[in-house]
Amino acid sequence: MKILMLCLGNICRSPLAEGILKQKVSDDFEIDSAGTIDMHQGKKADSRSIKIATHYGIDINAHRSRPITTQDLEYYDYIFCMDQNNYKDAIYLCQSDEQRLKVSLILNALEKKDINSEVPDPYWGNANDFDKVYKMLEVACEKIAKKLSSKQ
Ligand code: 4NP
Repeated sequence: MKILMLCLGNICRSPLAEGILKQKVSDDFEIDSAGTIDMHQGKKADSRSIKIATHYGIDINAHRSRPITTQDLEYYDYIFCMDQNNYKDAIYLCQSDEQRLKVSLILNALEKKDINSEVPDPYWGNANDFDKVYKMLEVACEKIAKKLSSKQ
């Protein structure tokens, strides 16, 4: 099972989602993350994401930002987007209905969900915003890990 986490810059939210989900599934899963822009390509995760991940026992120091490619839409089985803009940008890159079906908002994995709710961009926020994002992703990734592990 191959999963791609998607946000805007691939330095704040999706590297966290990648790190959290990796901890919850077996090595049979391939998990990566990407951004819809290439502005931070090659850079490490935002220091505030590294800090909050470390606080909860997850090491995302090896992460380097990269933009999503059209090949990603073919290669990955699921593409989980952090917000509506990421979703729209991913759908725009799709070349078939099969690819479109792989793309969803990550919080739609939750059972009790506000339909189409978003993981807010913490880039302009503070440490508390990063903590909130972490907690949202933790709950969503727990659900995703359970659902997809039973499908393997
Ligand atoms: P991310 O956060 O999409 O969660 O990685 C952002 C990173 C960079 C920018 C915005 C959001 N930026 O404007 O550069």
